[in-house]
Parts: sequence; C-alpha cells; structure tokens
Amino acid sequence: MRPLLLTHCGAGSDASVQDAAEIAGMRGMEVLNRGGRALDAVVEAIVVLEDDPRLNAGTGSRMRVDGRIQMDAALMAANLEAGCVAAIEGVKNPIRVARDVFATPHVLLVGDDATAFARSKGHAVFDPATPESRRRLQESLAKIREGKLPRYARKWKTVDLHGTVGAVARDRRGRFAAGSSTGGTAFMLPGRVGDSPIVGAGLYAGPKAAVTVTGIGEEIMKRVLSKFVYDRIAEGRPPQAAANRGLSLFPEDVSIGIIAVSAGGWGEASNRDMAFFASSPRRTF
Ligand code: GLY
Repeated sequence: MRPLLLTHCGAGSDASVQDAAEIAGMRGMEVLNRGGRALDAVVEAIVVLEDDPRLNAGTGSRMRVDGRIQMDAALMAANLEAGCVAAIEGVKNPIRVARDVFATPHVLLVGDDATAFARSKGHAVFDPATPESRRRLQESLAKIREGKLPRYARKWKTVDLHGTVGAVARDRRGRFAAGSSTGGTAFMLPGRVGDSPIVGAGLYAGPKAAVTVTGIGEEIMKRVLSKFVYDRIAEGRPPQAAANRGLSLFPEDVSIGIIAVSAGGWGEASNRDMAFFASSPRRTF
C-alpha cells in the first residue's frame, strides 16, 4: 500500500507556519518511504513540530497561570496500543516519552510521575519556555487582572488558541498511527489536562483509520471527537466526509481542526486557519 502521512500545526495556525507542517511531514515520509512503521513516522514528524518554538507543543509551549509549562502528548496504533503523558514538565519531546509509555503495560502517565518516568528513560532536563511563551503568559495574566477572562459558564469558548500539533500516518503494510502533542490553551490552571493525551478524544487509531484533532480540549473531550470521526470512517464514509461530520458537532465559536487517514484517502476539516501537510494532494484514491 502507498504510504500516506498528514501533519497539522493546530487550529488557529496560519500560513506563517506552513513550512513547519511540511518539514515535519517530509521527516515522517522519510520513515515511511524506507519501509518504516506508521507509529515511528508519526513520532518523528511530531518531534519536528515540538522542536519548532513557534508552535504550542514542546519548545514554546504555553504556560499555566502559575508560569509552569505542563505538556500533554499521545500516540496510538491500529492494534489499539497507546502511550500517553499528561501534565509532564521539563522534557524536550513529550511525544518521545509517550512512545516510551507505549512500550509499557500502561496507557497514560501523569504529572510528576510522568516526569520521573521520563528521567528513568533518559530524557534530560529541558526548559521548553521561550520569550514568546513568557509574553503570552503576561498577556493572559493581564486579561485576568482586567477581568477579561471568559466566564466559566462559557468555559474557554472565546479564548484564543494556537496550538496542539499532530500527525496521522499509514505505512506500506497498511498500518495506521495517530499522534498529538500540546502545551494546552490560554488561561490554564495547573494540572489541567486537555483532549490531546486522551484516547478517543484527542486521537484515535484502529484497523480502519487514524484520526487526530486540535482545538478546545474541554469541548473535544465531551464529544469524544476522534472516536466519533473514526467510527464514521469505519462505517464506510470517506475520511473527508467523516471529518466534516466531526466538525459539524461544534458551534462556530469553538475552534476545531481534524485530520484523518484511511485505506481510501485522507480528510482535513477546520473552522479556523490550520497549517497542515498531506503527502498526497489527492484526498481519495
Ligand atoms: N487541544 C489542546 C488542548 O485543549 O489542550
């Protein structure tokens, strides 16, 4: 089967970071073109996105309101194996830690224990903060001081969000994998976990497809978005139609982006700008 890979730079990302989506996509395709696994291609693509300080994952992740950076990342393969980390701190590439969790009997490690697990696997101490993440925190704190925080009844719907990176892939053997990584959103309380490391919400892979999504995590989790899109593909819909159905679950003021790959093609849907890359220009084949 012809390999296929998609990457995205998050709902709200614009053409200024299109190069990141493409470089990450090409890195993932190098893995697939030499016969590598979809899972490894997704990891390598997401590492590129995490290392790009313009994107809200890994280096350059958004800060919590207390100034800390807590990151989420996840991987899932077509055999339903998964590895995820949530609220991990002080590592360069959360997706590589998720890959290490994937090799354990567990699916999700969180907080300080996820960080300790990373150290036990040789992940060095790394500060992902950048001048831009500090600037964004000051902006958030100013909005809090000015009372411009969105009312909790409306949750995060009006909050600006640039973030979450992701990739989906199909390898030569027709195996699927999905991955996601994020520094979260604006106005996060310490300990907050979004959709990105939650199987079924932020990502899903199975024998029929791989799906990963971006946007406001609280809204995505409530709709179990990635599994919803996967199930539509498993029913026989083309990935583009399935992604469109997924997007239609949300009001326009909730930013959402979706990428999906199946045996028959790929789909992408977003209600915001979203820089993304697809290794084939054709959505169905
Ligand atoms: N979608 C990323 C987050 O809400 O954390």
